[in-house]
Amino acid sequence: MIPDTRSIIPDSSPVAPRPMVPPCPTPSAPDAPAFPPPPGGFRNPTTMHSRPAGDFMEHILAVARAEPVSASQIADIGEEVAEAEPIPECHIAPRELPAGTLLHGYRVQRCIGGGGFGVTYLAQESLLNRTVVIKESFPDSICYREEGSLDVRMHDPESGQDGYNWAMSNFLREVRLLATLDHPCIAKVYSYFEEHNTAYYVVEFINGVSLDKLAAQHAEKGIPIPQSSLFGLIVRLLDALDYLHGRKLLHRDIKPDNILITRAGLPVIIDFGAAREAYGDLSNNIVETPGFSPAEQSTPNGNMGPWTDIYALGATLYYTLTGTCLPPAKQRQIYDTADPLSTNTSLLSTYHPALLASIDRAISPLPEHRYQTIADWMRDLASTHL
Ligand SMILES: Nc1ncnc2c1ncn2[C@@H]1O[C@H](COP(=O)(O)OP(=O)(O)O)[C@@H](O)[C@H]1O
Ligand SMILES: [Mg+2]
Repeated sequence: MIPDTRSIIPDSSPVAPRPMVPPCPTPSAPDAPAFPPPPGGFRNPTTMHSRPAGDFMEHILAVARAEPVSASQIADIGEEVAEAEPIPECHIAPRELPAGTLLHGYRVQRCIGGGGFGVTYLAQESLLNRTVVIKESFPDSICYREEGSLDVRMHDPESGQDGYNWAMSNFLREVRLLATLDHPCIAKVYSYFEEHNTAYYVVEFINGVSLDKLAAQHAEKGIPIPQSSLFGLIVRLLDALDYLHGRKLLHRDIKPDNILITRAGLPVIIDFGAAREAYGDLSNNIVETPGFSPAEQSTPNGNMGPWTDIYALGATLYYTLTGTCLPPAKQRQIYDTADPLSTNTSLLSTYHPALLASIDRAISPLPEHRYQTIADWMRDLASTHL
């Protein structure tokens, strides 16, 4: 798991790299058909090399939007997820609510995550008998939970009040934003409530594993994620980001452990704590994860837009393919030590150069060298002469 290095204070500490993904034991030729065919095959049964761009676009959008494609396309990922271990328990005592706590009709099962701003629990909704995830607002620099009490208290009620109010309103903003979204690759919010002197929201439980873990499993076994599976994931994630950006929203914290892969192989984006309006300025706080966030995100009043999430998705894919985080983005702008994926011979034995080159472009240190919109990225995938 990637350590949670997300902070509101720019931090350039490197994230420990994982070993490189070893080369595929049964490499396919670099110019083998790059992307999987849609169900029933392409309408024009020519090779990928001579296919007109329109067909590619149609195919890409079909993969992104049409449900029937997903099952066959990413079935192998789904099988791996089914084998994977359940979400590990996480202890951040004395902050967390104890297992068994009854909270507004939900029975807390265990704590599954905790960052600087909140705690995440797995819980059972008693009435509907379903598993849910509950997020609790808990800015740990300001608040604590006394042993034996469920209430959240401020260390210093006078100096902490502003921070507490900010955290509560930011939390409500996060849930309101999530409540407006309806996309198969974005976790759905069910409800919001206030209790124990703090706030909670209930969100759909995604039964799967993080992309981080999935990539680690592949690295451990020495088997790269198959190109068709990777492509299915990329296109779906692009579609989800396109959906967000179309609503003028930025996620701002795309990284491998904020993407869960379901048992059906569908990637689902979670953790909208850092999301904000792309062109408004509702929350201009600096929130970044070194290795995944682009430079403009750690710059006060940095010019953020779709290219900001595009960098983070590219960095996520870079990590997924290499097992290594990119160096901090500001450092890359001065001297870039990251090797392009499209010249990595090991990766080229499994993935099409155009697919790797598109990720390279997404992670360009300078925003103007990246795709400016998700549609640009999709169009590039569609129109490249593969
Ligand atoms: N909807 C969900 N379904 C399943 N697991 C989840 C869900 N939301 C969060 N988790 C798990 O809880 C962890 C922490 O949640 P997250 O929303 O990422 O908060 P943070 O990273 O701020 O602690 C995630 O890494 C994931 O393992
Ligand atoms: Mg997270």
